[in-house]
Amino acid sequence: MVTVLVDRVKPMASELAPLPEGVAEVIFSSAELAAAVGRLAERIAADYRDREVLLVGVLKGALFFAADLARALHRAGLAPDRMTLDFIAVSSYGNSRRSSGEVRLLKDTSESAEGRHVLIVEDIVDNGHTLHYLRSMFGGRAPASLAACALLDKPFHRGVDVPVEYVGLEAPDEFVVGYGLDYQESYRHLPYVARLHPWVYRD
Ligand code: IMP
Ligand code: MG
Repeated sequence: MVTVLVDRVKPMASELAPLPEGVAEVIFSSAELAAAVGRLAERIAADYRDREVLLVGVLKGALFFAADLARALHRAGLAPDRMTLDFIAVSSYGNSRRSSGEVRLLKDTSESAEGRHVLIVEDIVDNGHTLHYLRSMFGGRAPASLAACALLDKPFHRGVDVPVEYVGLEAPDEFVVGYGLDYQESYRHLPYVARLHPWVYRD
């Protein structure tokens, strides 16, 4: 009998080739992302076992991450009536590969944050201005507690010191796309996180 061992952390064959035009390399495969989301969910479910959490996904980038994290929290044992899922939409001014720190609120939550245990769910933290803006905004709404979770952290160019209680993976010091992250609104729906060929960039 032949036993085939599948290394689940390697990019799946279908993610390796052929890559779509413009995509240079897979950095985190869908399996690696799923494992990171699972690890985050275990920690969060343990930390919030005595509290009811209001997950606030930051659109558009955290769309898939928030959806996957919410379901992973269920698998990690968080009871269905202990979590509410909501979304907020922001846009950061700047060129399309680096935000300037000027954040604009496009859509607020529909739930009130007052007296709630708010957990901000972000796709990636780079210079930190977007999360800093969100933390100050929710901090001013009298939540019972406030914390942030980011799938990816790029700690290399922080312009502001902002706490991130839960980090999934450290991303390399470069621009990445996929699993919600875009370059000029493209590449969000890739199931993995990838780097692009330099010729793609128009800014
Ligand atoms: P910050 O304000 O520089 O921390 O950037 C946060 C926002 O910029 C994220 O929510 C993303 O939308 C975007 N961003 C930062 N780095 C990347 C990247 O490498 N790829 C795609 N979007 C990014
Ligand atoms: Mg973006």
